[in-house]
Amino acid sequence: MTQDELKQLVARAALDYVVEGKIVGVGTGSTARLFIDALAEIKDRIPGAVASSEDTRTRLLGHGIKVFDLNEVSDIPVYIDGADEITAEMHMIKGGGGALTREKIIAAVAQKFVCIADGSKLVDVLGRFPLPVEVIPMAQAYVARELAKLGGTPVLREGFVTDNGNVILDVKGLQIVDPVDLESRINQIVGVVTNGLFARRPADVCLLGMESGVKTFTAD
Ligand code: 5RP
Repeated sequence: MTQDELKQLVARAALDYVVEGKIVGVGTGSTARLFIDALAEIKDRIPGAVASSEDTRTRLLGHGIKVFDLNEVSDIPVYIDGADEITAEMHMIKGGGGALTREKIIAAVAQKFVCIADGSKLVDVLGRFPLPVEVIPMAQAYVARELAKLGGTPVLREGFVTDNGNVILDVKGLQIVDPVDLESRINQIVGVVTNGLFARRPADVCLLGMESGVKTFTAD
């Protein structure tokens, strides 16, 4: 199976987690896009969705799925999103698509985070994928110097502006042995909006697309 077919598999499997009559939180990226296409088939069973990016909002609306502002909503039973890397502890690196801040906000509100990913995303240690950090533009150089002190090599994502009007520094070369601690430390740098470590609020369920089918795992 191709990587796209594996993504398709988990995107469809995630439909089982959508709660009838309730708003669903929807992530960003190619796997999330496939999930949105699948969600369209059952759109009459839900009042609508909350979107983690403008891209996701546009795709949901294109399918005739109502999009709610997060401030109108307090109950999100499930948030469904992809990941760039995930460990067996359900810690993730996210933000390859640059939507990490809105993704993290919806994940915080949601009762359950269902991660959907092809099998290549499962890793023992996070950090081979450069860690995205969303930064207020005027703080870019300062934050880059602070990130270098943590042992990484920050690289500005050229020509990219987030939905929040900020820039992304992709930090290469980190061996992330304690993701919970590093997530907090990076977020304490003044000028950082948030970083792509999702460890303080990990996924609750991961649907992994493998040659043998969908493998479901949960944190111990
Ligand atoms: C976007 C994300 C995505 O979930 C992550 O980049 C995975 O993307 P894809 O499903 O395309 O592999 O965090 O900000």
